[in-house]
Amino acid sequence: MNITVIGSGYVGTTTAVVLAALHHRVFGADIDSAKVAKLKQGILPFVEPGLDQLLAEMLKTGRLVFTDQIEAAIQASDIILIAVGTPPRPDGTADISFLMSAADTIAHSINGYKVIAVKSTVPVGTNRWLADYLSRKIGDPSLFDLVSNPEFLREGSALYDSFHPDRTVLGGISQRAIQLMKDAYKPLIGRLLVTDWETAELIKYASNSFLATKISFINEMARIADRAGADVTQVAKGMGMDRRIGTEFLQAGIGYGGSCFPKDVKALIATAKELGVGAEILETVERVNQTQSDLYLRKLTEALRGTAKEPWVIAVFGLTFKRDTDDQRESPAIRIVEQLLADCQEIRILDPTVEFPSQTPWPDERKVVVCQTVEEALSAADAAFLCTDWEMFATIDWGEAARCMRTPILVDGRNLYDPETIRAAGVRYLGLGRGGVP
Ligand code: UDX
Repeated sequence: MNITVIGSGYVGTTTAVVLAALHHRVFGADIDSAKVAKLKQGILPFVEPGLDQLLAEMLKTGRLVFTDQIEAAIQASDIILIAVGTPPRPDGTADISFLMSAADTIAHSINGYKVIAVKSTVPVGTNRWLADYLSRKIGDPSLFDLVSNPEFLREGSALYDSFHPDRTVLGGISQRAIQLMKDAYKPLIGRLLVTDWETAELIKYASNSFLATKISFINEMARIADRAGADVTQVAKGMGMDRRIGTEFLQAGIGYGGSCFPKDVKALIATAKELGVGAEILETVERVNQTQSDLYLRKLTEALRGTAKEPWVIAVFGLTFKRDTDDQRESPAIRIVEQLLADCQEIRILDPTVEFPSQTPWPDERKVVVCQTVEEALSAADAAFLCTDWEMFATIDWGEAARCMRTPILVDGRNLYDPETIRAAGVRYLGLGRGGVP
C-alpha cells in the first residue's frame, strides 16, 4: 500500500518508519522543509531510542521517503494518516489548526478514493465534524472515508510500543476503510476495537486521563504516607499485586509532564464543561499534579534553611519530563528550577540531552549553569534535586558525593534511590512518603 503520514513529530515519524518496515511505500510529509531535509539524511529532530537505526534502514530500502511536497504524496497514496500536533490553547481546549490545514491540503489535492485517518488527539466530535467539512470541500463524499485512529505511543519507547501494541482503535462508519486500515497495520494490531468516531476519540482522552489519575492518586498516597511514616513505594507494590489494580503508573514523584497528559487532562476538562458535565476527578488530578513538586521544594527549603547559607548552589539532575527523551514540555523539573532561582546563587543542570544553556528555557540566565559530569554538578553544592530518573543517575556514588558537596542533601523526586543506602553514604535523603520522617 502507499501511505502518507502528515506530520513528522515523534508519532508521525515513528509511524512512517514502522509502516515502511511492514513493507508499505511511505511518504513522511511535513510543511517544515528544514525538518524534512534532516529526516532525508536520517537525522531525527528528537531523541527516540532505536528509531535512528530503523530510520536509516528504511531510507536505504527506498520505501520510505520524506517530503515537503504534501500534495504529490497525497495523490500517490491510498491512506493518509494525519499525525500533526494539537497543542493546548490558553483556555485548555485543543488547538486543531494544524489538523485543519492538513485537511485543506487533502481536500484540494485529492485525486481518487483515499482513507483519511486521524491519529492526532482531537476533541470528541472532531472527526464527525471533519467528515462533513471534507465532504463539502471536496464536493464528492465517495472520494474518501474518515477513520479515527488514536495513537498510544509513549515518548522514549515509541518504537517498542509500535511493535508491541496493546490495542488498535479504529473509529468510523465505513467497513471498506476499516478493512484497509487493518491491512495497513497487520500484523501490528494487538487487540482490535472497531467503534464509532466519538468513542474512539474519547478512548484516547480517557486512557491518558486515567493514567494521569493513577499518578495523582499515588502522589496523594505519598502525601499521606509521608505523614503516616509509611513507604509509598511499598504501598504501590502491595496495591499492584491486585491484578485489578495493576503495577504500572503507580510511581509517586514530582508529578507528570510531557506533551500529552497535562494537555489531554485539560482538554477533557474543557470538553466536559462544554457538554455541561462536571469534571471533579480530572480537576483534582490536575491540582494534585500542579502542587506535587511544591511539597518537595518545601522540604528542601526547610532542610537548607537550617544548615546552608543562602544563596544556595543546587544541582538539578534531569530536565526532561521523563528519561529517554529530549522533550522538556511541561516538565516538572522546569517548574522546580523556576521556583529555586530566587533563592539560589547557582543552579547546575545535568541532563544527558542538555549540552548548552540554549537547550534550556534559561539561555541568558547566568545563575543557570549546564554541567557535563556528576562531579562538576555536585562540587561544593548545597543539595542535589533528582527530577528525572535517567539511568546515569542510578549509579552515582553517593559516598563520594557526600565528600564533595557543601551540604550533602539529596531530594529524590522519582523514588530512584533506597533511602537507607543514601543515608548510610552520609547524605540526607529527602523524599515524599518514604517511610519515617528524615
Ligand atoms: C503518554 C501515554 O503513556 C501514551 O500512551 C500516549 O500516547 C502519550 O502520552 P508519554 O507522555 O510519552 O506517553 O509518557 P508516559 O510514560 O506515559 O509518562 C507521562 C508522565 O507521567 C511522565 O512525566 C512520567 O514521568 C510520569 N509518570 C509516569 C509518573 O510520574 N509516574 C508513573 O508511574 C508513570
